[in-house]
Amino acid sequence: MTSEKTAAPVAPEDVALKAKHRAMWAMGDYPAVATEVIASLGPVLVDACGIGPGTTVLDVGAGSGNAALPAARAGATVTASDLTPELLDAGRQEADREGLALGWREDDVEHLGVDDASYDVVMSCVGAMFAPHHQETADEIVRACRPGGTIGLLSWTPQGFIGQMFATMKPYAPPPPPGAQPPPLWGDADHVRTLFGDRVEDVQATVQTLAVDRFADGEEFRDFFKATYGPTIAVYKAIADDPEKVAALDAELAALAERSGVRDGAMLWEYLLFTAHRV
Ligand SMILES: C[S@@+](CC[C@H](N)C(=O)[O-])C[C@H]1O[C@@H](n2cnc3c(N)ncnc32)[C@H](O)[C@@H]1O
Repeated sequence: MTSEKTAAPVAPEDVALKAKHRAMWAMGDYPAVATEVIASLGPVLVDACGIGPGTTVLDVGAGSGNAALPAARAGATVTASDLTPELLDAGRQEADREGLALGWREDDVEHLGVDDASYDVVMSCVGAMFAPHHQETADEIVRACRPGGTIGLLSWTPQGFIGQMFATMKPYAPPPPPGAQPPPLWGDADHVRTLFGDRVEDVQATVQTLAVDRFADGEEFRDFFKATYGPTIAVYKAIADDPEKVAALDAELAALAERSGVRDGAMLWEYLLFTAHRV
């Protein structure tokens, strides 16, 4: 990694959209979601990518390091990149507490400031899926990975719990900007295969579940997400002056968790684990 690629010009509307996304992910307390609810997903992705001592890893949409930190613990040389500096700061603090050395880099996965073919592994744990332009995202992931290297993506499925949560919130949210694609599409293996096309081989795509036992009932789930999770906070912000809508969304989110077995010991949140080698 001697020189960085020259950044392509980014359209002003994209700059504004990304600023909005950055602000959204900085709201609430996303690191609490990562550590209290989905912490086991990072090691799942690290194992699936075969990461070990000496592997060079770029984690895109790394947030507070849910996958980047376990990769570093496994002995890899890791760069954690994300749109949201507040989340990178939280990850950096955890790394410092543990004495782990990682690179932390503010970057948009659709326009990565890294050299071509510069990492053994490019991965993302429910991160890259939130960039609005899927083809640009896939193209950048391929570009950053060396030939023969591994691409690993863990993404919520449309039909799984988080996909259903986004479907529940959609009627209450402002319409997405033109050209923005829905995040849970990354949980559809055919969609991901099409995005990468013949630039990858040895594709493995499996649907798995995360057991979530953090919440006693639907209301506790809803209130935790209302307080911590940027996309949920943003939807409530958009309807804040309409108490009927707030009450309706409150009821729908709690009901979703109740239907999904929140009182049965653990909810099972479905995700797609996709790995492939770059040709
Ligand atoms: C659900 S969080 C996942 C974070 C982390 N990978 C984890 O497993 O906890 C989604 C992350 O994607 C990041 N993100 C959203 N859009 C992005 C973009 N265009 N480029 C880079 N990161 C982005 C957000 O800032 C946020 O950290």
